Amino acid sequence: VSEELTQPKMLSLDGGNTQPLSVRARALVFSDPLSEKLLEDVERIAPSEAPVLIGGETGTGKELIARHIHLLSKRHGPFLAVNCGAINEELVESELFGHEAGSFTGATGKRIGWFEAANEGTLFLDEIGDLPLSMQVKLLRVLQEREVVRIGSRTPIPINVRLITATNINLQLAVSAGSFRSDLLYRINIAYVRLPPLRERPGDILPLANYFINTYGDRIGYDKPEFSSRAIKLLLDYSWPGNIRELENVVHFALLVAADGYIDVEHLRVKGGWKAIGFETHSPELFSTPVQQTAEIETVEDEPLEIISNQLLRLFSLPNGKSHLDEFEKLVVKEAFNHANQNQIHASALLGITRNVMRTLLRRHGLLREIYSYNRRSSTDVKNT
Ligand SMILES: Nc1ncnc2c1ncn2[C@@H]1O[C@H](COP(=O)(O)OP(=O)(O)OP(=O)(O)O)[C@@H](O)[C@H]1O
Ligand SMILES: [Mg+2]
Repeated sequence: VSEELTQPKMLSLDGGNTQPLSVRARALVFSDPLSEKLLEDVERIAPSEAPVLIGGETGTGKELIARHIHLLSKRHGPFLAVNCGAINEELVESELFGHEAGSFTGATGKRIGWFEAANEGTLFLDEIGDLPLSMQVKLLRVLQEREVVRIGSRTPIPINVRLITATNINLQLAVSAGSFRSDLLYRINIAYVRLPPLRERPGDILPLANYFINTYGDRIGYDKPEFSSRAIKLLLDYSWPGNIRELENVVHFALLVAADGYIDVEHLRVKGGWKAIGFETHSPELFSTPVQQTAEIETVEDEPLEIISNQLLRLFSLPNGKSHLDEFEKLVVKEAFNHANQNQIHASALLGITRNVMRTLLRRHGLLREIYSYNRRSSTDVKNT
């Protein structure tokens, strides 16, 4: 890996009292021209008081950018991050705005809400699209009046909070679908930052990969391996549906299993294996080697469904994003069949169905015919040569 790749443009996020331990990375890598431009935009927006809406696929660094904006804003108070999708619907109001003792069943003692806790600082509301409609009205009021009223109280409390929100869905479509208020969207979307998916900023891939090697290498005290040229090619060619988080997990895992100072193709594990996504690696047998199960492997293996679900959301968000369930069925059947090297018994085992059902599905989607005619063609080709 060349010198310039090992020296990515980095911004240190260290310093200040605003670095909760939940942020795994302590620096940001911005090497691709698109990322540099993004950083310029962010630096311009940060010092203002304007609310910021950050959009981007899962794992693109939305929270990291939110923290960076807070740091650059020089606000004195804390940065607090709240995931709207993770709070119990009945408790959202109390979580955000607080409550007085005995104001509802189960409200023991009084509690200040996130808005009050973030006073003079920044409140980051992640997955804002998950906020129930009833709460959206209340949030809008708080933003307009710049004051909160705890549940069970009548006294408004003035607050000075910079709001940053994030979403991985298209909120404009959520508005059209009636699940998000347009007046709230207008209010939170004064400054919009779009975090491009990793595949749109390939210049970040290797600097990030090296950055993660360094960070995790230091943390676990391992020697820092280098990437083989084949590994580099794969890293650059892959589409990274899980974006930077996926890259981070893949590199972390590679670091744990690589020996001899090299990370090679077989150490890079992506969902389903490279072959399944169309890469010829020349060493397919290495991918069937069972790897020791560790907590890190779980995180790599746990994500596929989440990624599929995110990609479905993307698909549905496309302007003409209508898809027939039948197409998805075909896709699943086809991928399983290919993964099993066209072996019906193995493919049916992958999907947990009987061979008969597998055969029916293959026939229904025209997948058997395709393969037979392909085989016929290739055997005539052989005869002709
Ligand atoms: N520019 C970057 N430089 C270094 N690390 C980064 C960068 N961007 C993101 N990361 C790392 O990638 C991981 C994902 O980032 P983050 O949690 O901010 O993404 P997200 O968009 O909030 O994801 P999700 O939508 O899943 O919540 C984190 O571990 C973060 O530290
Ligand atoms: Mg996030």
